[in-house]
Amino acid sequence: MWVKVLATADDSLKLRELGPADAAEYYALVQRNAAHLTMLGDYHDEVASNATDVAYRLAQRTEISVRFGVYLQERLVGRVDLIPVEPPRYGLGYWLSEEVTGRGYATAAVAALLRYAGEELGATDVFAGVTRGNVRSEALLQRLGFEVVADFDSYRRFHHSLSHP
Ligand SMILES: CC(C)(COP(=O)(O)OP(=O)(O)OC[C@H]1O[C@@H](n2cnc3c(N)ncnc32)[C@H](O)[C@@H]1OP(=O)(O)O)[C@@H](O)C(=O)NCCC(=O)NCCS
Repeated sequence: MWVKVLATADDSLKLRELGPADAAEYYALVQRNAAHLTMLGDYHDEVASNATDVAYRLAQRTEISVRFGVYLQERLVGRVDLIPVEPPRYGLGYWLSEEVTGRGYATAAVAALLRYAGEELGATDVFAGVTRGNVRSEALLQRLGFEVVADFDSYRRFHHSLSHP
């Protein structure tokens, strides 16, 4: 089956659409990162999912490619997602395995996803919600030109416009 692959600004880093064949590797990565993903990132449900749930979700076909594994030299190290809440407006999700953080890989991965969203899906707006205190996630969004559009008690909402004048 044809699988969507997106290049990033870093030749060693690619995004590849996740499917059922990736379930075991993805599940293992999530479990290894359980503490990292639940400390500030809102990934409690993902960490609580068992291998069968993960395989079932990855087997659900989507009309457009919206869920991607982040691959560093062909090794799965994270995940980025576009959430088609109300196309052409999308939500954004992203995480990176703890041992490869701090090197710009998540920024490069999300930048590639945004380029794809704008150029191939015709996305006009991308939103992300960040739990208060998740300064690394806020820094990532600010590097990519996102702005805060709403402040709630527990999280902040960020927005990035992809519309071209
Ligand atoms: C949020 C998360 C993805 C951010 O990861 P990150 O490693 O900080 O982000 P990046 O991979 O873009 O790396 C940025 C770091 O690399 C550095 N860097 C090096 N080269 C870089 C480059 N070319 N471009 C950007 N940053 C670069 C930056 O200065 C920054 O360093 P700092 O943390 O010392 O300031 C990660 O912390 C994570 O997975 N957290 C758990 C899940 C989560 O919270 N997800 C978000 C939910 S809203």
